[in-house]
Amino acid sequence: MDIINGFSKLSREEKLQLLMQKFPHTHNRLDILQRFIEPKEDISEIIEKLSENYISNYILPFSVAPNFLIDDRMYFVPMVTEESSVVAAASYAAKFWAVHGGFRTWVTGTKKTGHIFFTWTGKADKIERAFPEIKEELVNAVAYHMSNMIKRGGGIYAIKLVRANNTVADYYEIMVEFETIDAMGANFINSALELMSSKLLTYISEHFADDEGRADIVMSILSNYNPECLVECEVSCKIDEFLPVSAHMSPGRFAEKFAQAVLISHQNTSRAVTNNKGIYNGMDAVLIATANDFRAAEACGHAYAAKDGMYRGLTNVFIEQNEFTFRLTVPLPLGTVGGVTSIHPMAGLALEILGNPSATDLMRIVAATGLASNFAAIRTLITEGIQKGHMKLHLNNILNLCKAEGFEKEKVENYFESHPVSFRAVTDYLTSLRNNK
Ligand code: MEV
Repeated sequence: MDIINGFSKLSREEKLQLLMQKFPHTHNRLDILQRFIEPKEDISEIIEKLSENYISNYILPFSVAPNFLIDDRMYFVPMVTEESSVVAAASYAAKFWAVHGGFRTWVTGTKKTGHIFFTWTGKADKIERAFPEIKEELVNAVAYHMSNMIKRGGGIYAIKLVRANNTVADYYEIMVEFETIDAMGANFINSALELMSSKLLTYISEHFADDEGRADIVMSILSNYNPECLVECEVSCKIDEFLPVSAHMSPGRFAEKFAQAVLISHQNTSRAVTNNKGIYNGMDAVLIATANDFRAAEACGHAYAAKDGMYRGLTNVFIEQNEFTFRLTVPLPLGTVGGVTSIHPMAGLALEILGNPSATDLMRIVAATGLASNFAAIRTLITEGIQKGHMKLHLNNILNLCKAEGFEKEKVENYFESHPVSFRAVTDYLTSLRNNK
C-alpha cells in the first residue's frame, strides 16, 4: 500500500470512501460506523448488556491512524481516545517511519499465569511428595474445559507448587502457566483455576487423614502480571534522515537530545511515568477500539517497567555510528476472540479494519502504536514544546464553545499566534471583535 498524504484534511465521508477502497471486504460492515453516529435501539440493546444499572451510552470518537507500516504490512490503526492530538501524533510518527522501513516487531512469548493460593497445615514434604500425582489430577480435572483450547494449540504449559509460607502461616501457591492463543483468556484461566482448586481439596481430603493436615483455598485467580507475554517493537534510520522532523536542530543534535530524553526516563521515575503514560496514550486507544482490557495491559506494563526495582521508561534508544534505533519492549496480554471483542460491533469492525489479526499480530500493532506515540511526544518535547500544539487545540475548543464564526476564527487564530492563550484572553478578544463590528 502507498503512503497516504493529507488524510486528516479529508471530510468524514471522504475518509470513509478511502477506507472502503482500501478494505473492500469491510464494505458491508462500514454501515456500523453510521449506526453508531446516532445509536438507535438496536445498538443500545447490545451496549446495555455490557454492564449493570445502564442508563445511557457514553460516546467517544472512533478514529483511524493511517500509514502504519508494521512488518512490511500497511495498516490503518483504529483508535478510540478522548485526548485530542493522540491520533494526530501517532499518525505523524507512523508516516515518518513508513518511509524509513516501518516498525519491526518480535513477539518473544505469549505465556499467561494464574494461581491457586491455599493453606496446608500438614508437613511441607507430604504435599511436596504428593505433588506429581496432584498435578496429574489437576490436569485431568480440566481436560474437558481445555479440550477446545488444546485443539487450537493452547492449554497448560506448566503447574508448579511454590512454598511461600513466610508471610501467611501454612501458605502455598500453585502457579499455572497457560497458552490461550487468540483469547485474552481471563474467563478461561479463572474457570480452570477454580476447577483445579476444588480438585485439590478433594485430593487432599481423600489422601490425607485429618491429623496429617488440612487444606483450604484462599483464592484462585489469573495474574495480570504477564512479563512473558512480551513484544518488542523497533524503528531505525540513519541520523541524517531526521532532517524533516528535527525542526530548528541539526539531525545530529536531534538524535542526541532524543537519546537524552529517553535516558532521563530511565533515571527519573517522575519522568518515566509521564513517558510511559504517553506510550499508553496510543496503546490504550487501540485496546479500547478493539475492546481489550486496557486496565490489565496497563497494570502489567507498569509492573514490568519496575521489574528491576525502579520504575523506568519502557523505550530505549541505541545509536551506533550513524544508525539510530528506537525500541519499545512491553508485555501485552491481548485477545482477538471471545469476550467483549466479539460482542461490541465497533470492536469487531476495528479488528476487521486491522485484517482480523491473531492476538500476537494485535500485540505487534498495539506496540507499534505505543512506540509511535512515544516518538511523537519526545520529538515535540525536544523541539517546539508540548504547549504550542495543545494551546492550538485549547483555542479551537474555546472558539467552538463561543460559537465563533469563520472570519472570527481567522482573526482570533492570527492574534493568538503571538499572544498567550487563556479562556479569559480569548473571550475578551472575541467580545472586542464583536463589539467593534
Ligand atoms: C500527554 O498526554 C503525554 C505526554 O506528556 C507524554 C510525554 O511527556 O512523553 C506528552
